[in-house]
Amino acid sequence: MQTTKTLLTEGARRLEAAGISEAALNCQWLLAHLLKTDRLSMLADGGARVPARAAADFEKFVSRKAEGEPLAYILGSQPFCGLSLKVDHRVLVPRPETEELVGLAVDFILKARIGGAPDVLDFGAGSGAIALALSARFPEAKIAAAEKSARALACARENARALGLANRLTFLAVSSVSAAGGPFDLIVSNPPYIPTGVIAGLDKEVLAEPRLALDGGADGLAVAREIIAQAPRALKKRGALLLELGDTQGPAAVKLLDKKIWKTREVVNDLNGRRRFVRAVKAG
Ligand SMILES: C[S@@+](CC[C@H](N)C(=O)[O-])C[C@H]1O[C@@H](n2cnc3c(N)ncnc32)[C@H](O)[C@@H]1O
Repeated sequence: MQTTKTLLTEGARRLEAAGISEAALNCQWLLAHLLKTDRLSMLADGGARVPARAAADFEKFVSRKAEGEPLAYILGSQPFCGLSLKVDHRVLVPRPETEELVGLAVDFILKARIGGAPDVLDFGAGSGAIALALSARFPEAKIAAAEKSARALACARENARALGLANRLTFLAVSSVSAAGGPFDLIVSNPPYIPTGVIAGLDKEVLAEPRLALDGGADGLAVAREIIAQAPRALKKRGALLLELGDTQGPAAVKLLDKKIWKTREVVNDLNGRRRFVRAVKAG
């Protein structure tokens, strides 16, 4: 029978050989998941014998990781704003930056002091990450999760059911903001924003995610442009639009917002100082 340490050493060697970054850490997450323990407890007992079944599953997990499958797909879940979300090939793996977008949405809902239940649209919901995080934070909110991909929408529904939030959300199989109804107090979106020409050169792990979740057209702003064009009609007076975009795309997107329609149009930096988020508030 193999020990934790021998499996981790061999697994890390294989991942390094395959050019996978953070090889040792990835192996630790994978083995801790299979042993149903936390990483540090596992590391504290390197001599522990690993049952044959778990060792065999670990070998398979390491092979999948070496092939470039995202860790979250292998584990089957991703933490997001304190929730555990089921993720697989149907959806983008929610990123930490998107937790910051949720933070901006929470700030707006609290500061705008929306009477009663805020009406919120999460456009391009994917796994349901944003909609579910806001629903958990604001139980009274009326939140619509809109998504073009039927497979992603099914995943969002599964997450909502698993988290006991399904009866708080509406799921919309639509591909435009106009088709999502409204009027909303807030439209929040992390649309696909990678320029088409850049996609082929991305990491294998990113390429494992759905193309529809990545491809933002020639300049990366195709979907954002449509959202910006349609949002004014879908928002109430003094309603807000919050977008997450690529590292440097915020200023270009702000320029697309008509001064006559929006009383506030600004770029908000992410925690790394990147000009990623757009915050716009419609005039009253
Ligand atoms: C970058 S992913 C974001 C997923 C999720 N909101 C998150 O933050 O993890 C973009 C999502 O938008 C969806 N999408 C792309 N174009 C769309 C459109 N025209 N209408 C609705 N959803 C769209 C994709 O299928 C994908 O799920």
